[in-house]
Amino acid sequence: MAIGYQNRSRVCDANNEIKMKKKISLIGAGQIGGTLAHLIALKELGNVVLFDVAEGIAKGKALDIAQSSSVDGFNVSLQGTSNYEDTKNSDVIIITAGVPRKPGMTRDDLLGINLKIIKQVADGICKTSPNAFVICITNPLDVIVMALQRYSGLKKNKVVGMAGILDTSRFTYFLSKELNISTNKIKSLVLGGHGDTMVAMIKSTEVDGKSLEDLINSGKISKKRLNEIILRTKNGGAEIVKFLEKGSAFYAPAASGVQMAESYLKDQKKTLPCAAFLKGEYGVNNLYAGVPVIIGKNGVEKIIEVSLSDEEKVNFNKSIQAVKDLYSAAVKIDPTLGKD
Ligand code: APR
Repeated sequence: MAIGYQNRSRVCDANNEIKMKKKISLIGAGQIGGTLAHLIALKELGNVVLFDVAEGIAKGKALDIAQSSSVDGFNVSLQGTSNYEDTKNSDVIIITAGVPRKPGMTRDDLLGINLKIIKQVADGICKTSPNAFVICITNPLDVIVMALQRYSGLKKNKVVGMAGILDTSRFTYFLSKELNISTNKIKSLVLGGHGDTMVAMIKSTEVDGKSLEDLINSGKISKKRLNEIILRTKNGGAEIVKFLEKGSAFYAPAASGVQMAESYLKDQKKTLPCAAFLKGEYGVNNLYAGVPVIIGKNGVEKIIEVSLSDEEKVNFNKSIQAVKDLYSAAVKIDPTLGKD
């Protein structure tokens, strides 16, 4: 059937709109990569290129999501590929290429294998998309994002890791369940490395305008129960790995990555806890670690220094030491990472 004039012009408008959209490349089309693609399409943040060494997975997921466009009413293009040329001139790149944990493994156990993968990814993206805002999700996060920046030579304010938003949203969720209050009435923060030493910031947490200390004093929650919730937050990823038996968490990690991409693309200047490069902030030099940052059109525009209690300071420093130790392990695997 011939396409009518009105329909034809609508198709033209839609195609032009697609051409003008931002380009978001997802390196790794596994569980998180696929979920990222779906969320980005639903939010129409930009056209999506799904890249994976397993080309069929990237192509299959791109096509599957694209086929839902008329149902969900989104207008972006989706493409699957195993060729870095197709990711050329991306505005945003989100990296999940790598191996996830198996039950009983820590994130740190992934270091050797994911370091090799991130080197390949860095080589693939640095020449084709030198101006992209790059969000890394591959674990062990803080060390992998630092290696990614070193390998790629991309600007430090344009290379950032996703962890703090996820850890904070887990803490917020557990608190909301315990206190029977909506998550949007809780303001919280989890900082430090994305591992067993992450630090839930008690002093910066507010529940419906009240501090956690107030809630303990008024008997709404015991110190013991709060400590259990903090421990559950630290083990939040492992709890899911154990349930799934195969693979690790992907819905909440993807949602967290999308929030960072959206703040950059729309210049929202949101303050978000992310793994950012520290040059003296929080007394830490030359290291990536989880701190609150403002993300806007220039990438990481500012690192926010919140005041820490003495106990939080001690725990934060322990967490920083754990990241430094793991980075030293990475340098042992690949000595080129030791050079600036
Ligand atoms: N280049 C591109 N893609 C790669 C490469 C590579 N060199 N090596 C592996 N991949 C792809 C795999 O083919 C797979 O499709 O990365 C994808 C990873 O997907 P999953 O195994 O489903 O893992 P996922 O749950 O998405 O987690 C990815 O994020 O949170 C972290 O710990 C997690 O490190 C893991 C990563």
